[in-house]
Amino acid sequence: MSLISEQGGRWPIWMAPLTRSRAIQPGNLPGAMQAEYYAQRADPSDGAVVIISEATPICPEGHGYFATPGIHQRDQVQGWKQVTDKVHRVGGQIICQLWHVGRVSHRSLQPENQDPVSSTEQPAKSKTYIDAQGNRAPCSTPRSLSSEEIPQLVESFRRAASNAMEAGFDGVEIHGANGYLLEQFLRSGINDRTDQYGGSLENRLRFCLEVTAAVIGVWGEEKVGYRVSPISGDLAGDRGDENMLETYGTLAEQLALLKIAFLDVVESFSVGQREPGLAEICQRMRKSFSGGPAGLYLAGGGYTRESARDALDSGRCDGVIFGRDFISNPDLRRRLREDLPLTPWNRRSFYLGGEEGYTDWPLA
Ligand SMILES: Cc1cc2nc3c(=O)[nH]c(=O)nc-3n(C[C@H](O)[C@H](O)[C@H](O)COP(=O)(O)O)c2cc1C
Repeated sequence: MSLISEQGGRWPIWMAPLTRSRAIQPGNLPGAMQAEYYAQRADPSDGAVVIISEATPICPEGHGYFATPGIHQRDQVQGWKQVTDKVHRVGGQIICQLWHVGRVSHRSLQPENQDPVSSTEQPAKSKTYIDAQGNRAPCSTPRSLSSEEIPQLVESFRRAASNAMEAGFDGVEIHGANGYLLEQFLRSGINDRTDQYGGSLENRLRFCLEVTAAVIGVWGEEKVGYRVSPISGDLAGDRGDENMLETYGTLAEQLALLKIAFLDVVESFSVGQREPGLAEICQRMRKSFSGGPAGLYLAGGGYTRESARDALDSGRCDGVIFGRDFISNPDLRRRLREDLPLTPWNRRSFYLGGEEGYTDWPLA
């Protein structure tokens, strides 16, 4: 199956990566419940054209939240195989979001309770979920990776990409967004290194591009996507870059040279809001990902039926990614296509918990 040819006609609607924090403990394993949840949303006519899995840690150090299912152990690969088998049985496609949180973590979630790793020693100002009760703790102060360690980390991405293939996924998305490790290297407001991975834009791009090349080495460029979030501020308030346009524009150009299948652009963390300056960045990235063989431009973040239709009709994007609405509407694509009412989502059941708020949402 090709990610590019299966575009879903007038409604090329993809399901966004959504952490649901229900991995089996101990071991951070996906299982039958995850298989059921994804399969419910995988019908090629009524569900997502392509599902992007929840963020999936590539190595033990890549975990930053309680109960997120990894892709670095044998039993995790077997767990994901149950998921991909069930999705394929209903005719769907699912790709694996490859994730390393970097400094957005807590020692209690790290191997031997060590400090999390990052491009910097400056801690993230946010909090993270650390246990089954939903308690949150401030992120721990990270240790800055040495230049010599970085090739090992690239190798961890490569191995995880290979595990994802063994687990039966249809492709992979590199999680380069939302303040996690790749963005910690990319952004001048965070990356304070003086080696070949810090300083100039070329140096800050290096890790992102090395990871992408390694993942392409496993999958081929036509099965690899990359998620970006060119939004300067967030809850942590320290994720800026002094030249967002140049940083994200150049990243998109470089990724396009690597010929990846799609760029997944998080335009907003909340419904409707768009940062000043974002439109210009998106227009520039759109030039690099202009659809078809040039790679798809997928837009996401706070879209509605109307705004998705508008973005598609105006040619601003090749597909729209929906997150929260897919949680509460397994048949979202049908509802958008037929203009049926949407079931509202419930924030209380986003994370943790079992079947409730996970596999129990009705079809229209
Ligand atoms: C419960 C929840 C979990 C999320 N988990 C992830 C994730 O694992 N990886 C990721 O890149 N984004 C994640 N996001 C962001 C979504 O993919 C999406 O960008 C965001 O929800 C905005 O789109 P929407 O307005 O359609 O929901 C998450 C968002 C929510 C609400």
